[in-house]
Amino acid sequence: MSPRSADHAPAENPLTPRDAAVSGLPEQAAADRLAFWAQQAGQLHWDTEWDQVLDWSDAPFARWFTGGRLNVAYNCVDRHVESGHGDQVAFHWEGEPGDTRTITYAELRREVCRTANALLSLGLTAGDRVAIQLPMIPEAVFAMLACARLGLPHSVVFGGFSPAALQSRIEDARARLLITSDGQYRRGKAEPMKANTDEATKDTPSIEHVLVVRRTGIDVPWTEGRDVWWHDLVDAQPDEHTPEPFDAEHPLFILYTSGTTGRPKGILHTSGGYLTQAAYTHRTVFGLDADTDVYWCTADIGWITGHSYLVYGPLANRTTSVMYEGTPSTPHEGRHFEIIERYGVTIYYTAPTLIRTFMKWGEHIPAAHDLSSIRVLGSVGEPINPEAWRWYREHIGGGRAPIVDTWWQTETGAVMISPLPDGPAGKPGSAQAPLPGLSAKVVDDQGQEVGRGESGYLVLDQPWPSMLRGIWGDEERYRETYWSRFADQGYYFAGDGARYDEDGDIWLLGRVDDVMNVSGHRISTAEIESALVSHPAVAEAAVVGASDPTTGQAIVAFVILRGGAAGTEDVAAALREHVAREIGPIAKPRRIMVVPELPKTRSGKIMRRLLRDIAENREVGDVTTLADASVMDLIDARLKGGT
Ligand code: WT7
Repeated sequence: MSPRSADHAPAENPLTPRDAAVSGLPEQAAADRLAFWAQQAGQLHWDTEWDQVLDWSDAPFARWFTGGRLNVAYNCVDRHVESGHGDQVAFHWEGEPGDTRTITYAELRREVCRTANALLSLGLTAGDRVAIQLPMIPEAVFAMLACARLGLPHSVVFGGFSPAALQSRIEDARARLLITSDGQYRRGKAEPMKANTDEATKDTPSIEHVLVVRRTGIDVPWTEGRDVWWHDLVDAQPDEHTPEPFDAEHPLFILYTSGTTGRPKGILHTSGGYLTQAAYTHRTVFGLDADTDVYWCTADIGWITGHSYLVYGPLANRTTSVMYEGTPSTPHEGRHFEIIERYGVTIYYTAPTLIRTFMKWGEHIPAAHDLSSIRVLGSVGEPINPEAWRWYREHIGGGRAPIVDTWWQTETGAVMISPLPDGPAGKPGSAQAPLPGLSAKVVDDQGQEVGRGESGYLVLDQPWPSMLRGIWGDEERYRETYWSRFADQGYYFAGDGARYDEDGDIWLLGRVDDVMNVSGHRISTAEIESALVSHPAVAEAAVVGASDPTTGQAIVAFVILRGGAAGTEDVAAALREHVAREIGPIAKPRRIMVVPELPKTRSGKIMRRLLRDIAENREVGDVTTLADASVMDLIDARLKGGT
């Protein structure tokens, strides 16, 4: 691959008239928008220039930068070394027990090359899928980048997901390799990981090898011939590997997220457009200065935020980042502030649920640390309530740091709506407006844009470079889930409610579908319901998200036991454990209520609104559309310890 050359990137690309026409914008505006994206893409290294910025002829399947070729890992690593920044720190990594590792771009390059050589030695070739379940250790980043370098789409599975959840993801993508670790540190304890992944891979014939990082030193079950230690295989590899360019639309990764049905969706992201928007938004939203900033995104690599804002965006921009392995309260509640002070963090990006947890712990904890290095604060994952916004700004941001409230989704790949750090003063709780180059609208049921002061549904009315390219292996579900609701207008339906304020700024109002947001993690009611009914004691189940002061929403389950039995504490506890085993601890219901009936409409649809009223201790609302209005009284009587 040729070294980066300043004149390599095309400054302008010719636009075909169709580009402008199909986008639905007046020709000039569309041309400007595509020219804008061409300019952003031009900041990456392309081995072959693209022919067309956007091909939307097969909508809703977009192709960005068609004909262009690039290597994502080269863009994130090698080119920074080649431009003389090999000594710059890429990651200040800190383990939960307090061990640290400083990884420069030169070292990152060596590690990624070795890992890539190791994957080649296992016989993997471009297009093969690799599943990764790892804690927040440097090897997780090396593994992702090595996959990107070789054109192996990765599927990272959050470390807290159960063996069953991992198994279904491996099966869906038919992954050939699983990369995992012996164990992971959680709240000061070494918890097993390999033992869990072994359970997941008992029945997954596609997996040929399991590559295991030794993190905790705990004993692990071992399958000779299949399992390989990372330190045996990777450390023995040569430091050099020459990357080859891939098509701009080559699959980069699959990331599973919950939808409205029980089966998670494998969201597919590709290379050129994804990296363009991840890098653009990262530098714009945070006003990044790669030479001086120290950036910390607290997300786990198992979520999209970890993909776009811990790995791809920051590295494409040659950022110096902090990466932390553990929980924020280990060994004490000041751990994050200690880290901010130690590394002089200037940009801190986290989720409202953690901010509210900090609020609960008390402001004396951040006050005991020097946080004056902080320049910009970011929020992501759910609407940030004004109290949390003010506390964040006051106690972490020294009363001066701007807060960027970034709205986006696993599907959008990168930030879509956010204030800019040097823009007009932020409004506590509003993500405000789409970033330059991007477009969003709030529309009514008919797809007509609502006026100022009005609410409706959030839609994305123009294709964007990092948009999902589909759901892995399920074209129809992709069309149905995102594009059928406003098919006439050709809008992407995000699943969120939103409102314009009197200034025309956007406020996000939460999901309008049966998807909950618990601590910024998306969990579907249907997924938990199907886990509950898989337990032999359960006849029927309905799950709702009840508002919760810390986690945003809390999972509350209503279950009917077989034979109509009344519940006991033991049954509820057993069911909570069952859900944790089926999906993962994050999906454990906060409360389980055993009821004799569930409120249903005449067509048999569960009226979650009424269950939410009960879960939030409210007067029960309008029951006139129930098939049997007396059901609510029956439920009430049972919950009060009656029948
Ligand atoms: C859903 C996407 C984006 C990465 C983390 C979550 C909610 C996300 C905000 C925000 C209000 C937000 C939406 C969205 N959401 N950011 N700043 N304000 N709501 O990714 O798991 O794909 O969830 O999170 O409801 O649809 P995800």
